[in-house]
Amino acid sequence: MTQDELKALVARAALDHVVPGTVVGVGTGSTVNHFIDALATIKDRIAGAVSSSVKSTERLQSHGIAVLDANAVAGIPVYIDGADEIDGRGHMIKGGGAALTREKIVADLAERFVCIADESKLVEVLGAYPLPVEVIPMASAQVIRRFAVAYGGQATVRSGVVTDNGNLIVDVRGLRIADPLAMETEVNQWPGVVSVGIFARHRARVCLLGTPQGVRRLDFA
Ligand code: 5RP
Repeated sequence: MTQDELKALVARAALDHVVPGTVVGVGTGSTVNHFIDALATIKDRIAGAVSSSVKSTERLQSHGIAVLDANAVAGIPVYIDGADEIDGRGHMIKGGGAALTREKIVADLAERFVCIADESKLVEVLGAYPLPVEVIPMASAQVIRRFAVAYGGQATVRSGVVTDNGNLIVDVRGLRIADPLAMETEVNQWPGVVSVGIFARHRARVCLLGTPQGVRRLDFA
C-alpha cells in the first residue's frame, strides 16, 4: 500500500469516532483531506464542523458541510487531525502544513483528540521532524537565536509561507524532545511565539495508525 492509501484507510476509520448529531473538529493536511472526503458521506448525520485552516474550510464547504465559527461553539466531543510525528504517549509534532495555531485552538475546544496517521509518523522520541513554530514576523530572528542557545536547535524561517493568521513559520532542526510538555511550556512563553508545534498539553487520546496489515489503534491513558 502507498503512504497515501494508508492515509485514506485511517481517514475512513476515523468516521467511527464522529459523534452523531454533534459538531466535528477538523484538522488540516493530506490525511485530513481524505477524512473530509469521507465525512461528506455522513454529512447529514453531523451538525457541522469547526475547521483549523482556510484550506480545510474550503474543502468542507465544497462538500456542502457547514463550517461554524470556533467562537460559536462552547465545546465539541472530538477533534480529528493528522500529525508529523507522534510518540508512544500521544505527544505530537504538528504544523507541517503551517496550521498549528488554529489546530491547537480547535483541539482545545475538544474533549478528545483522535490522531490519524500512516505508520511512518510513529516515533520513539519527537524531534527528527523539524519543529514548526508560528512567530510574529518581528520576533523571528530572536526566536531563532533562542532555539540555538536554549536547545542547540538550528532554526530557519520557512520560505514563502505566511500563515492564515499573517505570521511566519520557523522550522527547528536538530532537536531531541525528551520532555515535550516542558519544551512546549517554555517556548510558548518566548515573546513573539504565537504557538509551538508540540502538542503535549493537547496530546492525542487515540491514534489510528495506517499499516499494510490494516488500522492499528493506539490508546493513550
Ligand atoms: C498541518 C499538520 C498536519 O496534521 C501534519 O502536517 C500532517 O500532515 P499530513 O496529513 O499531510 O501528513 O499539522 O499543520
